[in-house]
Amino acid sequence: MKFFVDTADIADIREMADTGLLDGVTTNPSLIAKSGRDFMEVTKEICDIVDGPVSAEVVALDHDTMMKEAETLRKIADNVCIKVPLTIDGLKTCKKLTGDGTQVNVTLCFSANQSLLAAKAGATFVSPFVGRHDDNGFDGMELIADIRQIYNNYNFGTEILVASVRNPVHVLKSALIGADVATMPPAVIKGLFKHILTDKGIEGFVADWAKTGQSIPTQ
Ligand code: G3P
Repeated sequence: MKFFVDTADIADIREMADTGLLDGVTTNPSLIAKSGRDFMEVTKEICDIVDGPVSAEVVALDHDTMMKEAETLRKIADNVCIKVPLTIDGLKTCKKLTGDGTQVNVTLCFSANQSLLAAKAGATFVSPFVGRHDDNGFDGMELIADIRQIYNNYNFGTEILVASVRNPVHVLKSALIGADVATMPPAVIKGLFKHILTDKGIEGFVADWAKTGQSIPTQ
């Protein structure tokens, strides 16, 4: 499963990229607002740090303006992935852009039928929002399982990009279901490394090693 980080914070993106485990970045208008940075400028900076897809979202609601915005955004770098909402205009835009070889992430997916539409529109990625699904009394992971089954049934190439991930359990369940990508806030990625027994084990090994009075030569 690929790991994307869901942020427009450059320091966080650098830290995650340095782990060697980062496959891409997703942003959205709320994350750009939170960064306080100029959209074009920060997107370019992110694309220079990460080789994988960097999702940048259009903000227009009509197809013609979405296409114009996408035209501007895709000139930022070759790894820009245009993010469009799951609406009729968004999917028209998706079809047109993917037809030209541009990567497209269809966002704000909340039902399996919507994911079917995104796949039929040729989306590179579909982004079902599991956390917001859970928040509203639905089972976000059940949605991911349904989408996986539908995409398998018809051999759709659209990648399932699990979004609105709130905790490591969302990541674990996504991996068990066979989702292609999870986009996570930096804190959730860091949380994946954590286990109390790992910390305790290190503590024990460090203490016992000190008793040996030895050191491993480092050059
Ligand atoms: O990028 C979209 C998504 O990940 C938003 O997450 O936590 O605001 O529902 P959240």
